[in-house]
Amino acid sequence: MSVRDLADYPWDAVTPFRERAAAHPDGIVDLAIGSPVDPTPEIIRRALAEATDAHSYPQTVGTPALREAIVEWYARRRGVPDLRVDNVMPTIGSKELVALLPTLLGLGAGDIVVQPRVAYPTYAVGAQVVGATVVSEDDPALWPEGAKLIWINTPGNPDGRTWTVEDLAAGVRRARELGAVLASDECYAELGWDGPWATEPVPSVLDPRVTGGTRAGLLSVYSLSKQSNLAGYRAAFVAGCARVVGEVLTARKHLGLMPPAPVQHAMAVALRDDEHVAAQKALYRRRRDVLRPALLEAGFRIDGSEAGLYLWATEGRDAWESMGRLADLGILAGPGPFYGEHSAQHIRLSLTAPLERVEAAAARLHASAS
Ligand SMILES: Cc1ncc(COP(=O)(O)O)c(C=O)c1O
Repeated sequence: MSVRDLADYPWDAVTPFRERAAAHPDGIVDLAIGSPVDPTPEIIRRALAEATDAHSYPQTVGTPALREAIVEWYARRRGVPDLRVDNVMPTIGSKELVALLPTLLGLGAGDIVVQPRVAYPTYAVGAQVVGATVVSEDDPALWPEGAKLIWINTPGNPDGRTWTVEDLAAGVRRARELGAVLASDECYAELGWDGPWATEPVPSVLDPRVTGGTRAGLLSVYSLSKQSNLAGYRAAFVAGCARVVGEVLTARKHLGLMPPAPVQHAMAVALRDDEHVAAQKALYRRRRDVLRPALLEAGFRIDGSEAGLYLWATEGRDAWESMGRLADLGILAGPGPFYGEHSAQHIRLSLTAPLERVEAAAARLHASAS
């Protein structure tokens, strides 16, 4: 496998369902793709505008102000008090880092990359690009010998599965036994809803209760796309093991993978402001509170989804049939099969639509149930 073998972008398969949903007389409710719909907060837009004089090359490692802001954010929001600036580095959104990490770590044919059983597709893409073998496995005890890079995603896309401190500690122990880098994609960590996450923050793989006193081999990957409505800025970062961050940095310098200077400034400002993140979370909570009961009433079961940006739902039948039923109600979902072979009967509904559209979806689901 190589970059030449990547399949067509799978979302094309959703087009007929989009057309069917768009024919609804009251219009489509598009819950398929998790692209933010709320405005970028004013404080961040102002910061971007302040930084438009960017005549010199930006720093691949990040400006001192941004690196400090990332370190402070981990201490304040993620319970990770002891990072230094050489543990952190900005990325151009996190999708590029996810797709390129096997390349940046020098992996190749014969190496194994582990990903979740139900997974954001880019983990496998990154492995395919270097010709590595992908193994989809959630249970650390079953992570195979020969694994060089292990991806976990907490809270998960699409299923909202979230790893507790104990789960993470077991994952860290196993990754160390194998000598693998453990990369935890945590981009939905601010969106905890039910179960323990109603009262406590979703833990990071860098949490001292998890690491056993050393960050060796551990990476936390985070993005501002969702928490700060910055998907268009391409604003994200990675933190953890100074040795691995250093290796990745060297490769990124050679490849020219540096976030634009104005975006680095805007990120530093965004990371220091918790207020807009709380306001955004409240918007997502409201939408979730409307959509969730309507799906249950209409006969869906919701699995996982205790945190994150999505509801992961099933009617116990083929996902494409559920896609069709929803399309006839003017609702567009994302099909489970896009996330691997273990989710043939699930669909993913994103909370990224205006409340008025989510309420329209809920009313249609309600009517279909009665
Ligand atoms: C699990 C996960 N990781 C990474 C990303 C990439 O985010 P971005 O490139 O916007 O930072 C996404 C985006 O949807 C995601 O769901």
